[in-house]
Order: sequence, then structure tokens, then C-alpha cells
Amino acid sequence: MNVKRTTTHAIRSMKRRGELIPMITAYDHTSAVLADRAGIPMILVGDSLGQVMLGYESTIPVTLDDIVRATASVVRGAPRALVVADLPFMTYQESPAQAMQSAARVMQEGGAHAVKLEGGSSVADTVRRLCDAGVAVMGHLGLTPQSLNQIGGYRVQGKDEGSAAKLMSDAELLQAAGAFAVVLELVPAEVAAAVTGRLGIPTIGIGAGPACDGQVQVWHDLLGLIPDFQPKHARRYAELSGTIQSAIVSYINDVKERRFPSDDETFHIPAGTSMNFEVGKPPAREEVAAVRASFAWTPERIRTLREDLRLTQAAMSEKVGVAKNNLSAWERGKNRPSLRHQSTLDSLARSRGRAP
Ligand code: KIV
Repeated sequence: MNVKRTTTHAIRSMKRRGELIPMITAYDHTSAVLADRAGIPMILVGDSLGQVMLGYESTIPVTLDDIVRATASVVRGAPRALVVADLPFMTYQESPAQAMQSAARVMQEGGAHAVKLEGGSSVADTVRRLCDAGVAVMGHLGLTPQSLNQIGGYRVQGKDEGSAAKLMSDAELLQAAGAFAVVLELVPAEVAAAVTGRLGIPTIGIGAGPACDGQVQVWHDLLGLIPDFQPKHARRYAELSGTIQSAIVSYINDVKERRFPSDDETFHIPAGTSMNFEVGKPPAREEVAAVRASFAWTPERIRTLREDLRLTQAAMSEKVGVAKNNLSAWERGKNRPSLRHQSTLDSLARSRGRAP
């Protein structure tokens, strides 16, 4: 199969041709397979994974390891889409050198084709250094969730002239630094339209109106996976939370009422095969107890018992009726006592009031 991967060059050409750019987040392999097969040109392994996959309240606790692991699983499932990975909080803000190391990890270990980072003038130098080093960078302006504590909440940004002008100049700085695209999150449509008109690189909006060159949506919002949460800027294209829950309820009922598995979902011994055990005969109670007990005689318990009895390995092995080497192997966890030897250990333990 000759599969061609979308490139940052192709994404920039889409803007030039006036072709709108859809993007979606994904955090795991199966989702990536589905998005890629649907024909999405760009996938974002967003740090929103912190909330929707890991259950954090914000993106701030997300680590580079979280993103690297998720990115690798997404890249393995998406042979065509350009995969952009978020650099998490405090993995690039400290210095361009730190950003280089973080980008190296998401690209070399995760296989990302581009990185995204938040901020404007404060990260422009970092973006330039990354681009000089050959990294494809996507900017992120407007509501920047990693600065949530400073911003004070998930609020629309750039609503007044001053903040809109700052947003515009930040966007221009990112473009000049070499970014291939910029996300505009929670920005008034008018401001996003002005930025989109000014920039030669694509703007990808989320809550930034219809004039952006592309749109990005969070997987869980788009598919209705979170029952009680619907951001204003998201559209649900499916109501999967209800579908999934009712499927699980049906499964529970089928198991409880022995409707699952059916004969079609069951494996059988091939016809005519003879078995030298009695199918269906439960193991004797003593056998089960013996197997359980075998797990009870851990190396540590054997050593403790010997120390309690104040015996050397040689003396203890004589009492148990086993070679000293074997006893030593039990104590090192290299071997496990047989059932017969376990019952001797049981008797010795009982004599010390330490029965299992
Ligand atoms: O992490 C994320 O999902 C994002 C999008 C909101 C753009 O950054």
C-alpha cells in the first residue's frame, strides 16, 4: 500500500489554495486508526489528554512521558496524518535548550512530525531555535490552558483592542520565527478573522469562529463522550457516551443471565479428540489448598522460619529432608518447595506457632 503522509508543506499549501484544514485530537492507537482512515490530515496529541484521558482538572500535571507514550501510539495508528504533539507545561518555558530536548523526545521516541507550544513573544526565540534545528512548530495563542492559573479561567481572549493587538503581534512573531501554523483558542471571531487575513501561515481555530483556515476539536467533545460537559465551541457529531453505556449495560445483563457467551462465541474440543482427564470435574479441595499453600512458602517465609528455629541451612535441610543446595535455592527464590516439602515446612511452622 502506497500511503503518503501529510506534510507541513501540504498544510501550508491548503491555506494558499483556500482549502480548509480539519484537525482532531487523539491520544491512543485505536482513535488514531479511526481518524486517519476517516481522512483527517492532521492529528493533535494535545495535552488536553490530562483532562480527558487521565482525569486531571487541567493540562498542568501532564508530563513529557505522558505525551511521548500517547504520541507513539497515535503515530503507529496513523500512516497518513501529520501528527503534532503538545509540549507539556514547563517542558519548554525554561529555555530554548530545554525545548530542544523535549522536542527531541516527542520526535525521536514518540515519532511526532511537529510540536505545538503555547505563547507568543515569550516563546518566539524558542520557536526560532527549534525551527532552525529543523523542528516543525505549531504555535498556540488566545486561551493558553497551561497559563490557566495566571489567566484565571477558561475565558475568551483578545476581547478588547489592546489584547487583540497583542494577539495579532504575537501571531506575526510566531510566523516570523518559523511556525508553520498557529492555533487560536477562544478568540472572538472578528479577531481570528483579522489574524487569519494577516498571516501567510494557517490559523487553526477552536472557539475562534469560522474564518480560521482550519478547525481543531477535542476527540471527546466531538464524539459526545463526556456526558455532562459541552463547551460552547464544540459540536457533537455523535452521542457516544449513551451508546457506550447502554452497550455495557446489555453486556452486564447478558453475563448475569448467561446469554453471553453463546455457543458461537465458545471454543470446543475438536470432535473425536480423546481426553485423559475428566472434563468438568472440579479439583479436589486438598489440591486447591496445596496450590494455594505453595504460594504461601515465599523465600522470605522460609528464611524467617529457619531463623526462628535458629538453624543453619545445613541443619534445616536435614530436618526438611532436602539437600542444602535446594534449601538455599528456595531461600533465594530460585526454586519452590514441592508439595511434600511444603507440608514438612507447615509442620515445622506449626511447631513454632507460625502455621500458614
Ligand atoms: O491540548 C489540546 O487539545 C489543545 C487544543 C485545545 C488545541 O491544545
